[in-house]
Amino acid sequence: MARIIGGLTTSHIPAVGNAIARGLQDQPYWRPFFDAYPPIRDWLAQHKPDVAINIYNDHGLGFFLDKMPTFAIGTAHEYRNEDEGWGIPQLGPFAGDARLSWHIVEGMVADEFDITTCQELAVDHGFTVPMQLFWPGAPDNPDMPRAIPISANTVQHPIPTLKRALDFGKSLRRALLSYPEDIKVVILGTGGLSHQLDGQRAGFINSDFDRMCMEKIVDEPESLTKISRMELVEKAGSQGTEFLMWMMMRGALGPKVHAISQNYHIPVSNTGAGTMLLECGT
Ligand code: DHB
Ligand code: FE
Repeated sequence: MARIIGGLTTSHIPAVGNAIARGLQDQPYWRPFFDAYPPIRDWLAQHKPDVAINIYNDHGLGFFLDKMPTFAIGTAHEYRNEDEGWGIPQLGPFAGDARLSWHIVEGMVADEFDITTCQELAVDHGFTVPMQLFWPGAPDNPDMPRAIPISANTVQHPIPTLKRALDFGKSLRRALLSYPEDIKVVILGTGGLSHQLDGQRAGFINSDFDRMCMEKIVDEPESLTKISRMELVEKAGSQGTEFLMWMMMRGALGPKVHAISQNYHIPVSNTGAGTMLLECGT
C-alpha cells in the first residue's frame, strides 16, 4: 500500500526561480524566505519519498482559457518544462509514474471525481519552482522522487469551492491508500498565499488572513470550507485563489497531522509566502 508521509506547501513565485538561478539565496531580501527550506530538505533526506504528487495551478502553459479543466492529472512517463516568458532557465524533464497516475485516475473516477487525464503535459513555474526549493538542482537531484502533476483551475471562474478542493484531496487519499505497491508519497500544495498581480489592488497582501489559513489548515481544515470563493478573492486577492491547492493537499493527508516546520514572510515579489511541512499522524 502507498503510504502518505506528509504534505509540503510553498509559494511558487517565478522571481524565486530567478533568485535560485542567480544564487541570491543569501542576500538580505531573499534570506528570510529561503531559510524556510533547509529543515524541510533534512526531513525529505531522512524520509526519502518515492513519489511527489505536485498539486499546482497551471498559469497558461499546459492549458489556456479556451480549454480549462477544473481538475487535471498527468498520466505521462515524463513532464517537460517550457519557457513561459518569466526569464527563468528552462529545466529538464521530470520523471513521472504513469502506473500510479492511472491507479489514481481509476480510483478517483470510481469515487465520482471525474478528473481530466493528460498523457502529455508541460509543467510551469507553479510546479517547477517548488521542486527546485525542496530538491535543489531538480530534476537532477539524486533524491528526486518520481513526480505526478495535478492542476486545478484557479484562473477562469467558476473555480472550485474550498470544500470541493478538500474533498478532492480526500478522494486522492483513498485512491493512494488502495495502491498495492509499498511506496512513500509526499503531497505538495503550491501557490498562495495572498496576492493580487493585476487591477486596482495589484500588490495586495493580507497577512492576517494568511496566518489564519496557516493555523487552521493544520487541525481545522473543515472550518476553512466556510469561506466562499468570493470571500477568498476579497480577503486573499485574485491570485490568492491558489490557496485551493493547499486545501487539496491537506485533504490527502488524513485527519491528523503534525506541523513540523512553518515560515511566513512578506513580501516575496508580490506575494505572502507561506511554507509548511505537515507530517502525517499515525
Ligand atoms: C507571482 C506569484 C505567483 O503565484 C505567480 O504565479 C506569478 C507571480 C509574484 O508574486 O510575482
Ligand atoms: Fe501563481
